[in-house]
Amino acid sequence: MYSDTEEISRSVKDTAMSIACEYKSGLEGIPASQSSISYIDGHKGVLEYRGIPIEELADRSTFIETTYLLIWGHLPSAAEVDAFEYEISHHRRIKYKIRRMMEYFPETGHPMDALQSSAAALGLFYARRALDDPQYIRSAVVRLIAKIPSMVAAFNLMRKGNDAVMPRDDLDYAANFLYMLTESEPDPLAARVFDVSLILHAEHTMNASTFSARVTASTLTDPYAVIASAVGTLAGPLHGGANEEVLDMLEKIGSVENVRPFVEDCIARKAKIMGFGHRVYKVKDPRANILQSLAEKLFDKFGHDKYYAIALELEKQISEKLGPKGIYPNMDFYSGLVYRKLGIPRDLFTPVFAIARVAGWLAHWKEQIGENRIYRPTQVYTGEHNMHYIPIDKR
Ligand code: ACO
Repeated sequence: MYSDTEEISRSVKDTAMSIACEYKSGLEGIPASQSSISYIDGHKGVLEYRGIPIEELADRSTFIETTYLLIWGHLPSAAEVDAFEYEISHHRRIKYKIRRMMEYFPETGHPMDALQSSAAALGLFYARRALDDPQYIRSAVVRLIAKIPSMVAAFNLMRKGNDAVMPRDDLDYAANFLYMLTESEPDPLAARVFDVSLILHAEHTMNASTFSARVTASTLTDPYAVIASAVGTLAGPLHGGANEEVLDMLEKIGSVENVRPFVEDCIARKAKIMGFGHRVYKVKDPRANILQSLAEKLFDKFGHDKYYAIALELEKQISEKLGPKGIYPNMDFYSGLVYRKLGIPRDLFTPVFAIARVAGWLAHWKEQIGENRIYRPTQVYTGEHNMHYIPIDKR
């Protein structure tokens, strides 16, 4: 209960606060942190990791080298990258007890839910939390980068009643994942395409899952909890989950002739078209261009995908009709076609995105704890004041 004077002064204060900090739905355009990890110019279609254009990294780097760059802030020397790769290749196995735990996951469960639970379980086994110790940070990075792919591949086999395939230390990161998934050694082009797609998905400034990772990191909890919270955020259809829905949509359209009526119907109903639009890019996402050329390389070597012609027509129609509003393909539009050609099951598309994005989340975790202040934003209260409790028999 407030006195009249208190009430007036409180309401003046609330009004002053809401004028001082304008509320923006979805925090659009509001900086949530300072960061030197990646940079986007959404009008020019530029994406840089630590200042290096994504096109150069996709052309010349590897996922492991890019991960090192993102987390430690510089391109590693040959000795540094070799040591990092060696450590990762020797931490790929997942503990027997975690595998046993995963065997009890329902086989109908979504692999993102399985991944979120198993990532969180790592915290039970590697509980020491020494966030000021560079060795602890390094070992947590190595474990997460090494084990997340093994968990994704293991759940995929276990849900079909099979044992997980043991990782192969002699295969590089991307080839080993495809091997654990398909139980056969991948073609070198397939392995390279997968490695490049990991580079493209590794980091993307302050998106929803990265924000989630930073908020969790700011409480100084362990890095496994940070990654588990980010995985949960990535799972939604407006974020990482869109790539699965793109293929569903292409199949539903069914033919090039059906594209125009599909687009017209979506526009009339104001329905979102999956794989298009982005909060930051107002031109075609630069990663979509690279993924499109990777898809074409795969089609040339392993055979065409009939849905590619539908995708091209859809891109043409949307660009004509919604381009003036800044709506063009985002990364998810072509990633599904690439993943399907690599033999990756559809419900693993988002977990595969997570395998890559762990690199970015860990870079943000390290940056956040390096100069930490706990996240504690405010809100614009829209509820009532001066209400009173009513006994249940009087309501
Ligand atoms: N199809 C049709 N219209 C669209 C689309 C789309 N995919 N995306 C945005 N628009 C339109 C909206 O209807 C809205 O129009 P209006 O101003 O006339 O009402 C305008 O563009 C702005 O859209 P918002 O939803 O306000 O944009 P926001 O920045 O909030 O959303 C998002 C961005 C979530 C990516 C959105 O474009 C979308 O839902 N796209 C489809 C899902 C998708 O592909 N997600 C993957 C994103 S990339 C990633 O996470 C890796």
